[in-house]
Amino acid sequence: MTLARALAGRAWRGAAKAALVVALAGSALAADAPPSRVPMPGVQPPAEGKCVEDTAFMRRNHMQLLVHQRDRTVHEGIRTEKHSLANCVSCHASRETGRVTGSKDAFCEGCHRYAAVKLDCFECHADRPAATASAAASPPGGPK
Ligand code: HEC
Ligand code: HEC
Ligand code: HEC
Repeated sequence: MTLARALAGRAWRGAAKAALVVALAGSALAADAPPSRVPMPGVQPPAEGKCVEDTAFMRRNHMQLLVHQRDRTVHEGIRTEKHSLANCVSCHASRETGRVTGSKDAFCEGCHRYAAVKLDCFECHADRPAATASAAASPPGGPK
């Protein structure tokens, strides 16, 4: 973790990128192959706009943010857009597929496959922006 922190402070490129992801993922991936030989995950952040928080912060803490947001919504009934999962998906959906899952190039699933971290949120949550996802599934004004 010390290494990851040190690297995070510098350019998020090349070996540093691989090393940090591997460090974050723990020993699961590190045991398999040296970072330099592992193909880079096809993480493509949106070309425009800014993330809801600082990018370096997001790399390390997006999971806590999401879980915190879920607890606030589900247990306390507080619903805000900024850190909602739907908001993440609306920005991070692939321009080609319109989704954040489904391939090694998809934003959420691509990096998670690479880091060997399970991602089971999208069994329930829409993996594409609401407009596309709900078009067939729910009537206008219905639940999203
Ligand atoms: C078994 C189904 C299910 C799974 C799996 C699931 N959720 Fe949820 N989640 C729900 C339901 C139901 C709600 C409450 C509905 C609502 O308020 O939109 C919710 C609400 C949320 C919210 C608050 C509303 C919002 O859109 O921000 C967040 C954040 C969230 N979940 C994140 C996650 C994350 C992250 C994962 C994966 C680790 C996950 N959920 C997995 C069913 C699920
Ligand atoms: C308004 C658009 C927008 C929203 C909403 C958004 N993001 Fe981002 N996100 C971005 C952009 C743009 C970047 C890349 C910034 C950069 O390269 O410096 C990014 C970067 C990231 C990264 C780091 C990716 C990398 O290359 O290491 C993660 C992880 C992330 N976002 C997760 C999330 C999550 C989780 C949410 C919802 C809580 C979210 N984002 C909401 C636009 C958005
Ligand atoms: C740049 C790579 C990267 C991207 C992009 C990314 N993740 Fe992650 N995510 C990780 C890593 C690595 C972990 C494990 C971190 C740890 O265990 O410390 C993780 C952990 C999580 C966790 C907690 C999982 C658990 O079982 O504890 C959730 C939930 C999550 N990510 C959701 C998302 C969602 C939703 C998106 C897309 C909006 C996303 N992630 C995009 C790398 C990424």
